[in-house]
Amino acid sequence: MSLWIQCGVVILTILFQRSKSEDSCDFFHGRWVRDSAYPLYNYTACPFVQKEFSCQKNGRPDESYLHYRWQPNACSLPRFNGVELLQKLKGKSIMFVGDSLSRNQWQSLLCMLYTAVPGTKYNETRSEDAVSTFTFTEFGVKVMLDRSVFLVDVVREPEGRILKLDSIEGGKLWKGVDMLVFNTWHWWNRRGPTQPWDFIEMGGKLYKDVDRMTAFEKALVTWGGWVDANINPAKTKVFFQGISPSHYNGSLWGQPSEKSCTGQKDPLLGSTYPGGLPPALTVLKRVLSTLKKPVELLDVTNLSLLRKDGHPSIYGLGEGGMDCSHWCLPGVPDTWNQILYSLIL
Ligand SMILES: *[C@@H]1O[C@H](CO)[C@@H](O)[C@H](O)[C@H]1NC(C)=O
Ligand SMILES: *[C@@H]1O[C@H](CO)[C@@H](O)[C@H](O)[C@H]1NC(C)=O
Ligand SMILES: *[C@@H]1O[C@H](CO)[C@@H](O)[C@H](O)[C@H]1NC(C)=O
Ligand SMILES: *[C@@H]1O[C@H](CO)[C@@H](O)[C@H](O)[C@H]1NC(C)=O
Repeated sequence: MSLWIQCGVVILTILFQRSKSEDSCDFFHGRWVRDSAYPLYNYTACPFVQKEFSCQKNGRPDESYLHYRWQPNACSLPRFNGVELLQKLKGKSIMFVGDSLSRNQWQSLLCMLYTAVPGTKYNETRSEDAVSTFTFTEFGVKVMLDRSVFLVDVVREPEGRILKLDSIEGGKLWKGVDMLVFNTWHWWNRRGPTQPWDFIEMGGKLYKDVDRMTAFEKALVTWGGWVDANINPAKTKVFFQGISPSHYNGSLWGQPSEKSCTGQKDPLLGSTYPGGLPPALTVLKRVLSTLKKPVELLDVTNLSLLRKDGHPSIYGLGEGGMDCSHWCLPGVPDTWNQILYSLIL
């Protein structure tokens, strides 16, 4: 009899702890741990990765960086199950909207899904307005990418190319999608020949330039207005990818002699990044807190800050280029998608 009671107590305790840890589970506080069961896929099994993210194919010799798993403090991420996700998304569409970091995450998700059902039929189309649609035809699942580096509009007018902080006509491409994952940041600080606008329009006036953090915030407010006006939360789930960090300055992770991410073979262990958080994240969180419609922040900044080893460095586009902004695939964006998967299920 007392054995049964003890058993009961044990089971109740387990159930209680389980629900408690699930309640307090925060996927974004944690650390990287070695795990030989990672990466989630072999790069040779994924035909969709573009050259700039194909580090191993481009000759990156070290492999340690592939064998890390993100371990949240209070719980574990469920292991990714691509078949389950495809079944769950049957008949639905998911769209990434943003700059090349969105493309990085989009290609990662394509690999994670495709390698779960290798050889499954698919087709890929690209519309005139630069939306790439990848359809897993046997599941009726669309995984889409809309390249929109500022989210707000850039329009060619007689004066030149105008970045319109109050205008978001591009949002017409996002309607009817079941799940949206937005991102913008990396292009806001561009100057010189790679800056893709000549003037900024704000409050009906044209400016030659505007404080970039202010411009970023204005654009996010415009985007938030679009979300509040257009999203029906019963039909569409909205995420924001968060700020993906770069690693060009070793002083920020305690190696002042490093002037880039080249030769970084492992993450920072522990949970703190000595260089602190990018200020853009504060701006983003402030704007998100004002929205009326629910938007879930995929708060990937901290976990990615620790991954000074995850970038292509010289094994990206090549031609002497140094890329410490994007991420190798397989790699860090797989974890972003694993978290996305955990939040969707
Ligand atoms: C991110 O890191 C900063 C500084 O280490 C810390 O204050 C903050 O709580 C962390 N946030 C998350 C979501 O882990
Ligand atoms: C990845 O695939 C290649 C070619 O099929 C194979 O040689 C290699 O051992 C695989 N790597 C892992 C880690 O399974
Ligand atoms: C791709 O597949 C979808 C779903 O089967 C189909 O509706 C669409 O016409 C296909 N597109 C192309 C270009 O084959
Ligand atoms: C690198 O970061 C350190 C510490 O914040 C800063 O003093 C230094 O100016 C930075 N170097 C470059 C090249 O940005």
